Amino acid sequence: MPDPSTLHVSHHPAVLHKLAVLRAETTEPKKFREVVRELSWLVGYEALADVRVRPITVKTPMESMEGAQLADRIGLVPILRAGLGMVDAMLELMPTAEVWHLGLFRDERTLHPVEYYNKLPDSASVDLCLILDPMLATGGSATAAIEVLKRWGAVRIKLVNLIAAPEGVAAVSAAHPDVPIYCAALDRQLNEKGYILPGLGDAGDRQFGTGKAG
Ligand code: PRP
Ligand code: URA
Repeated sequence: MPDPSTLHVSHHPAVLHKLAVLRAETTEPKKFREVVRELSWLVGYEALADVRVRPITVKTPMESMEGAQLADRIGLVPILRAGLGMVDAMLELMPTAEVWHLGLFRDERTLHPVEYYNKLPDSASVDLCLILDPMLATGGSATAAIEVLKRWGAVRIKLVNLIAAPEGVAAVSAAHPDVPIYCAALDRQLNEKGYILPGLGDAGDRQFGTGKAG
C-alpha cells in the first residue's frame, strides 16, 4: 500500500457510512449522485483546511469583532464527466470559487487519458486549484490534468477524489510529489481492465445512468 505523506484518507464515520451506500450495486443513480455530493463536501472540507483567510470587521447585533473572509482565489477543475457531481458541494464550501471544466476520458483499450474539452482561460487566475474526480485508478487522468494545470501556470494544486487505487496514488505522487491527494478511501488494487477493486464500478455511468459497471 502506498503511503506518501501527500495522501490524506478520511476515516470519519460519516464518510465510512456514506461510502458503503455509494459502493453498493443496488444504489440507483439518484441516490448515487446525492452521496457523491455529500462525500465531496466531507472530503473537500478537509482539503480546504489550509486555505488562507483575511481579517474583516463584522458588526454583530452586540458589538464589532474581527471575523475572517476567504483570501485565496480558488479554481475548481472537475474532470468530465464524473467530476461534475462534486462541483455543487465544493461551491457550497467555497461560494466564490471559479469552475474550469476539463474533459478527459480513458481510452478503454490503452487506459490512456484523451483530452476533449478545456475551458481554462489564457493564464492562471487562481491561487489554488482543486481537481475534482471521484476515481483515481491508474492515475493517468489525474496526471494529465495536473500537467495541463501546471502548463497553464497553476502553482498550488490539490487532487480531491472519493476512491483511490494504490496504483494511481503511486503514479501521481511519483510524477507530482507537490500535489496532495485527498480521498475517502484507498482501495486494494486495479483489475485487468483498470477498474478499482472493490471500488464502485464506473462512477460516470453510475451518476448518469448510462451503462453497466465494468
Ligand atoms: C473515470 C474517472 C477518472 C478516470 C480514472 O473517467 O472519472 O477520470 O476514469 O481513471 P485513471 O486514473 O485510470 O485515468 P472515465 O474515463 O470513465 O470518463 P467519464 O467520467 O466520462 O465516465
Ligand atoms: N473509472 C471509474 O469510474 N471506475 C474505476 O474503477 C476506474 C476508473
